[in-house]
Amino acid sequence: MGEEIRYKQVIFSNYVKTSVKESDLSLRTSKIQLKIPCGCDGVVLVKNLYLSIDPFILALMKNQELDLPSFTLDSKLCMPGMTAYVGFFKFCSPKKGETVYVSAASGAVGQLVGQFAKIAGCYVVGSAGNKEKSAFALMKVDLLKNKFRFDEAFNYKEEQDYNAALKRYFPDGIDIYFDNVGGKMLEAVLNSMRLNGRVALCGMISQYNSLEQPEGVHNLINALVKRVRMEGFFTSDHYHLYPKFLEMVVPLIKEEKITYVEDIAEGIESAPGALFGLYSGRNVGKLLVVVARE
Ligand SMILES: NC(=O)c1ccc[n+]([C@@H]2O[C@H](COP(=O)([O-])OP(=O)(O)OC[C@H]3O[C@@H](n4cnc5c(N)ncnc54)[C@H](OP(=O)(O)O)[C@@H]3O)[C@@H](O)[C@H]2O)c1
Repeated sequence: MGEEIRYKQVIFSNYVKTSVKESDLSLRTSKIQLKIPCGCDGVVLVKNLYLSIDPFILALMKNQELDLPSFTLDSKLCMPGMTAYVGFFKFCSPKKGETVYVSAASGAVGQLVGQFAKIAGCYVVGSAGNKEKSAFALMKVDLLKNKFRFDEAFNYKEEQDYNAALKRYFPDGIDIYFDNVGGKMLEAVLNSMRLNGRVALCGMISQYNSLEQPEGVHNLINALVKRVRMEGFFTSDHYHLYPKFLEMVVPLIKEEKITYVEDIAEGIESAPGALFGLYSGRNVGKLLVVVARE
């Protein structure tokens, strides 16, 4: 007979139909006996210390069939880092001096894309929502410029006209767009793309939590006329590039040429609120929930 322990679970209460609400998840306390099943040798007991809160979780909570990848580990050296690396270097094929725009740029993936683009010698602009965070006492846009060294940054929530905003930061157009949000921003970017530009379709967070019917992008003719290459990717299809990613990123971390911000919520009770906050931009950087400290 093993030791009986009480443990907390966050339970998925119902399929999400339109927008996720904190009440779509609920907290339950149960009991379990920690015992090794009969006949099992060499069993390892695993304790989760952190949960990773990712935008794609919402897709799993909708009643739809999706061929989504499963992600396991998380840190700048794993999923978000690999996503930034693969998406930027493989799908955007950057060249020195090119202009790069990153949306959701203060997030787990975006902050690294911007720093990789600077290292590649590009001019980089990021957009993010306006958020004051006591830990940093900086708005997200300030974080982009002052911590991640983007050339420019703007708060897309304050812009009435995305076309005008993009024209302001890219008077000669955009060579590379790293798309984390989709929707109206993608549509505006297509108007500003330069000849032979590249768009890496990494994520479409603006579409995950709002509408039953996804927004249309009505100006795809720009992709034709400007010979733009748009390509979606899943990081999980490219894990064979992980050694190359480490080869590049480990020295950069050691030399403090890249930096990374995480947003850590305390306790499993905070998981529903943390997930909900992801779709309203409450997080700054990679969102994690600490389940246990040791
Ligand atoms: N293709 C892949 O294999 C892969 C792997 C990982 C992640 N992704 C995708 O990459 C994107 C970024 O993921 P992440 O883990 O780095 O998340 P994240 O950026 O850390 O968090 C999401 C951020 O998106 C912004 N956001 C939320 N709703 C938005 C909206 N309606 N319009 C514009 N921005 C919005 C919020 O910041 P603001 O304050 O800026 O609004 C929020 O902080 C997501 O779309 C995700 O699905 C793809």
